[in-house]
Amino acid sequence: MSEPIIRAENLTKIYGGGETAVCALDSLTVEVQTGEFVAVMGPSGCGKSTLLNMLGALDQPTEGRVWVAGEDLSKLKDVDRFRAQTVGFVFQLHNLLPTLTAQENVEVPLQGQKHSRKERKERVSHLLELVGLGDRRGHLPGQLSGGQRQRVAIARSLANEPALILADEPSGALDSQSSEEVLALLAELNRSQQTSIVVVTHDRRVAQATRRILRMQDGNIVTDHRITSPLEEDLRMFAQSQFGQTLLENNRPHDSKERALNELIRSEEMAVLRRLLQTYNTSGQ
Ligand SMILES: Nc1ncnc2c1ncn2[C@@H]1O[C@H](COP(=O)(O)OP(=O)(O)OP(=O)(O)O)[C@@H](O)[C@H]1O
Ligand SMILES: [Mg+2]
Repeated sequence: MSEPIIRAENLTKIYGGGETAVCALDSLTVEVQTGEFVAVMGPSGCGKSTLLNMLGALDQPTEGRVWVAGEDLSKLKDVDRFRAQTVGFVFQLHNLLPTLTAQENVEVPLQGQKHSRKERKERVSHLLELVGLGDRRGHLPGQLSGGQRQRVAIARSLANEPALILADEPSGALDSQSSEEVLALLAELNRSQQTSIVVVTHDRRVAQATRRILRMQDGNIVTDHRITSPLEEDLRMFAQSQFGQTLLENNRPHDSKERALNELIRSEEMAVLRRLLQTYNTSGQ
């Protein structure tokens, strides 16, 4: 396997000092392999955004070290170059410049680089096509929907072909259709370009679409769950649903709905379904 895209060792971040000091990260260690698509979950205040800030060199840890794509972030000579070229940030406040069109916003990270004007235009057009906004390139952010703005932000984060995308609640402020679009786009980038992605989310569906779920609590990772089979994951979700739990708990139909269900499913089929649910009710989490 190639070198990990992320290696964080004993990361500690303490904000402030004295009585009001907050330990946002508490000696956290994690490795993410190149091409992985990882979700970070956990309660509000557990340190998810702080972790992303450290991984993207937006802030420095109090203790510990981070390597991204082999570079030790504590020794970066040119932090701006690292931020602009190695990492793509997709944050909830997507900070599009309101007076620039979609095309111009995506072009911002390419300014000052060696590309000719024509090359820049071509690259931006390609990126806007990729996020499904080829026909909106002349629109200002105010003329786009929330999901479309988020997709412009993703296109912008991809302008320099980053090896790593860090996304903090990318779909948090979006309606369910837009958030599915954003998620599908991230999954597609991961699949087609092997872009490594770390996405912070509260949404179980988003996490479910990744291949690994890190759960944080009090500044550390408490579980690291790899999703080897999406089908197994679906079965687990089904087993833990209200419907699955009802089937597991009741051997005999209680109400009319369940009696109706029993008429649809023969008892041997029901037995198979229960065995399946029992298997996935207990394994994993
Ligand atoms: N700049 C800061 N100064 C002081 N404390 C901070 C600062 N940023 C974050 N914190 C504190 O550090 C802890 C972790 O914050 P962080 O933003 O990483 O949480 P989070 O897991 O991203 O939460 P959420 O899900 O609400 O976004 C919190 O207790 C927060 O109050
Ligand atoms: Mg946060």
